Amino acid sequence: MKKMVILTGAGMSAESGISTFRDSGGLWEQHRVEDVATIEGYIRNPQLVIDFYNERRKQLPTVKPCRGHELVAALEKNYDVTVVTQNVDDLHERAGSTNVIHLHGELMKVTSSISPNDPLQIQTLTPEHLEIHMGETAPDGSQLRPFIVWFGEAVPMIEKAAEEAMKADIFVVIGTSLNVYPAAGLVQFVAPEVPVFLIDPKDVPWTSSHRYTHIKKGASAGMEELLEDLGIEN
Ligand code: OAD
Repeated sequence: MKKMVILTGAGMSAESGISTFRDSGGLWEQHRVEDVATIEGYIRNPQLVIDFYNERRKQLPTVKPCRGHELVAALEKNYDVTVVTQNVDDLHERAGSTNVIHLHGELMKVTSSISPNDPLQIQTLTPEHLEIHMGETAPDGSQLRPFIVWFGEAVPMIEKAAEEAMKADIFVVIGTSLNVYPAAGLVQFVAPEVPVFLIDPKDVPWTSSHRYTHIKKGASAGMEELLEDLGIEN
């Protein structure tokens, strides 16, 4: 089977009802990135940051995967698919994708404030326990924090994602403004002859010299068109 690597961003989940970050009305118009998505912000005011992610997490049971997520999952019948997502929601998994790399962490997981990437510290929350609070501790005794990669922190999964990108026979980018590195640089690892598709209703700043086909549509309609282009029935 040919290998397809799909890089997704907030636009992938927009049709499920989760706000993007940088579109008008997006999350970064309502919250200061420095306050809620940086390690400095967490150190300054952990309560604010924990509450911000509690709210995001409580939204998850109220949303469902969109047609776009479902079509990404369905591609596993035809390709060896790796999804590399910047999203912290679990909609790819809930749609049935079995091979998902989360570059920026996962909302349903929490971890230690001291060693956030230590597997022994990472716990998965349940639908009955969607909030964490000040005073709740990780196995190492430190304050429990969201398992989210904040600005100013290392992105441990980028190496695995880059290895996958290097092996891709087809590379697809869906719903990301390509503002945030290292995720935005993944296309640099894709071999020059590999076809690259971009699904996004808007133009995005493309800094790589790699040529791409822009399917200028939302995630669901864009995935329908991609499948048609690839000659796949759905
Ligand atoms: P952005 O909000 O920066 O970009 C969203 C992209 O989705 C834009 O290019 C939109 O045009 C596109 N879009 C909007 N609606 C769409 C739809 N229905 N279908 C397809 N595309 C659509 O989000 P990201 O690029 O994902 O990180 O942001 C990257 C990172 O910045 C996030 O992971 C987050 C944020 O700060 C952290 O918090 C660490």
